[in-house]
Amino acid sequence: MTERTFSIIKPDATRRNLTGKVNAVIEDAGLRIVAQRRIHMSRAQAEKFYEVHAERPFFGELVDFMISAPVVVQVLEGDNAVARYREVMGATNPAQAADGTIRKLFAESVGENSVHGSDSQENAALEIVQFFTDADIVG
Ligand code: CMP
Repeated sequence: MTERTFSIIKPDATRRNLTGKVNAVIEDAGLRIVAQRRIHMSRAQAEKFYEVHAERPFFGELVDFMISAPVVVQVLEGDNAVARYREVMGATNPAQAADGTIRKLFAESVGENSVHGSDSQENAALEIVQFFTDADIVG
């Protein structure tokens, strides 16, 4: 089924000029980038985005990292896009990520892991509206 997921190319990747290389992996996997914007997240935006992790010990570090440099927020569309993108990203910890995945190719650590992708269709919808309106998404 065609669906949408939300993606972020994180500061460790934008800093190393890897936006195009990450996008090539996304597109080669059959996902279509139907909205994309490079932004510098505010602290409030990052705290809201990661509010489900607010009680985790790494929350402060995670927010500091996400606002340390620009990110690229994206909407990806394709067959089973949520699950497909999670496959393409690889495991959260790059040391455990499969060959050919974005995190295996590019990520530096569990904290600085190059990309975010929604973990469910419900969260994809909630995350997309934090950064895009319907008019921004051209499928
Ligand atoms: P993401 O998919 O963006 O969602 C939550 C993020 O928390 C996750 O990717 C990781 O980058 C980050 N994270 C998870 N575990 C740790 C950890 N142990 N230390 C620092 N960051 C972490």
